[in-house]
Amino acid sequence: MTFDLKQHLAKRGKYIETALEGILSTPLLPDETARPGRLLAAMRHGALNGGKRLRPILVYETAKMFGRVDDGVLKAACALELVHCYSLVHDDLPAMDDDDLRRGQPTVHKAYDEATAILAGDALLTLAFDVIAEEAVHKDPGVRLTLSRELARASGIGGMAGGQMLDLESEHRDRTEAEIRQLQSMKTGALLRYACRAGARLADAPEADIDRLTRFGEVIGLAFQLADDLLDVEASPEVMGKATGKDAEAGKATLVRLWGVDKTRAELVRLQREADKLLGSYGPRAETLSALASFIVSRTS
Ligand code: IPE
Ligand code: IPE
Ligand code: MG
Ligand code: MG
Ligand code: MG
Repeated sequence: MTFDLKQHLAKRGKYIETALEGILSTPLLPDETARPGRLLAAMRHGALNGGKRLRPILVYETAKMFGRVDDGVLKAACALELVHCYSLVHDDLPAMDDDDLRRGQPTVHKAYDEATAILAGDALLTLAFDVIAEEAVHKDPGVRLTLSRELARASGIGGMAGGQMLDLESEHRDRTEAEIRQLQSMKTGALLRYACRAGARLADAPEADIDRLTRFGEVIGLAFQLADDLLDVEASPEVMGKATGKDAEAGKATLVRLWGVDKTRAELVRLQREADKLLGSYGPRAETLSALASFIVSRTS
């Protein structure tokens, strides 16, 4: 029987969604009585609206490959997804990509208002660090500290936020291949890299394996943004649940713009080969991660 990734992703996605629902319904402090309802509702709108949950699934599957599956792993996976959801809420703001549709629903600033969307993003980001610091994440506080610091770095100026700045600064400008790769490895790659790195660390994998999985995360991170940029050209808003054709309109610096569709597809194939090579030594244990890499390369939504 061949491995049914679609079904597997749906099952794991639901699992993550339920865990996120728990995190976003339980007050973190017993005396946390004054939770502004509108802000909480906007945070829930930004986080519980049915994304693919690829980043937390990667955390979970990487930890599983190295032998750890429990609630602590799930918490760490959710912390990363909270950062991702915040990044989308802010990415869609009028001052950034100015999008009205996300995951098939109105974006947070459309459903609420801009100020509320900004605050919802802030609160999702800070909640992530509360969650990653939970004792269940890892028995060793030193490991929890490393996981927190690496999440901060993947999200901040040297990672996602820095990459978003470069993305905005590059609109309607000529950029070299190296510059675009740098931008993408920060804005999208950093969180995907973190997913695989954190998964291996959570399971106490040897440093050499953490490094190999980090490289795997970098490769699929690049592939992920290339696929997103291709889909922006080729897919419909109905299928994507978000507007398409936006990158050309905004003059975004993408490799699709630099190379065209065919060369981008060839690069995706090359990245998939590289990803598979990195997993080679793990044999059948890496079946799910390998299937995830091919999903990322050939996804149609
Ligand atoms: C979209 O990420 C933003 C990019 C980094 C390209 P996803 O395609 O993972 O979005 P969701 O979480 O499934 O909605
Ligand atoms: C967003 O990239 C990456 C983030 C850090 C959120 P895009 O702007 O291409 O993502 P979409 O296409 O809006 O999902
Ligand atoms: Mg953007
Ligand atoms: Mg966008
Ligand atoms: Mg895009």
